[in-house]
Amino acid sequence: MTNDQLRHPSAGDHLPVDAPIRGSAPKETPLFELRNIQKRYGSFVALKDMDFYINRNEVIGLLGDNGAGKSTLVKMISGINPPTSGEIYVNGKRTEFRRRSDSEAAGIETIYQDIALVDSMSITRNIFMGREIVNKWGFMDHQKMEETAADILGSAVQISGIDDPRKEVGFLSGGQKQAVAIARAVHFKRNILLLDEPTSALSVRETEHLLGYVRNLKQEGTSSVLVTHNLYHAYMVCDRFVVMSHGTKVFEAEKKDTTIEELTDHVIRT
Ligand SMILES: Nc1ncnc2c1ncn2[C@@H]1O[C@H](COP(=O)(O)OP(=O)(O)OP(=O)(O)O)[C@@H](O)[C@H]1O
Ligand SMILES: [Mg+2]
Repeated sequence: MTNDQLRHPSAGDHLPVDAPIRGSAPKETPLFELRNIQKRYGSFVALKDMDFYINRNEVIGLLGDNGAGKSTLVKMISGINPPTSGEIYVNGKRTEFRRRSDSEAAGIETIYQDIALVDSMSITRNIFMGREIVNKWGFMDHQKMEETAADILGSAVQISGIDDPRKEVGFLSGGQKQAVAIARAVHFKRNILLLDEPTSALSVRETEHLLGYVRNLKQEGTSSVLVTHNLYHAYMVCDRFVVMSHGTKVFEAEKKDTTIEELTDHVIRT
């Protein structure tokens, strides 16, 4: 098969012929797809000619140097950063992603790089913010939420020192805050989990636990997109890699068709 045939059909049309992107066409209708996306902040072009898809049962490594546009893309998939132009498909159906509720409806949860927690609220309130558990009279069921919070804090990343979900987030360490953000996303995820540098504040043990968890999620039917600067972590858990540079995709390959050396080369070359 030639590189051209391997290319995602929507990926290469606008590219110069002498710059083919090696990649893989989706084998089935993707769970989620972005086509020909542009994102401008004023006159600054943060994403251009960007194509990206997420299949069922896969873990994608989204790689690239600082400022490549990875977080911009993640926020777009999570609905909080609508594209300036381009198309979005969920299960092959054209749709608009204009606000967080659009991605929530599609079963997408995100662990953001710039962790969005409210310091003055408890761990439990942070986890259930906007999705509170209510009792049959419509009042918040604090006990149920606290029990659930305690439960899920131990699920994805076993982090030490979080003993009471009523504790204010402002008193937690960076790693503990990251664990709360992870626990929240993991609890509500259904189809897709986006992880934007989720291990930056975690210890080696916690990182291993989270990466193992992402692998297991695949078995349970949740696909993940892992953004990381650690290519070893990415290589350990991902099935496919997309490398971005200057707001666009510069390389794409399935794990079986690439190596850490080749990925490193593409990340640092650009
Ligand atoms: N709200 C914004 N307004 C203006 N420019 C922005 C905004 N958000 C991001 N950018 C710019 O878009 C570019 C891509 O940023 P982005 O955060 O997506 O990079 P990244 O690949 O996630 O980088 P890193 O690895 O450092 O997290 C950067 O040049 C950044 O300055
Ligand atoms: Mg980023």
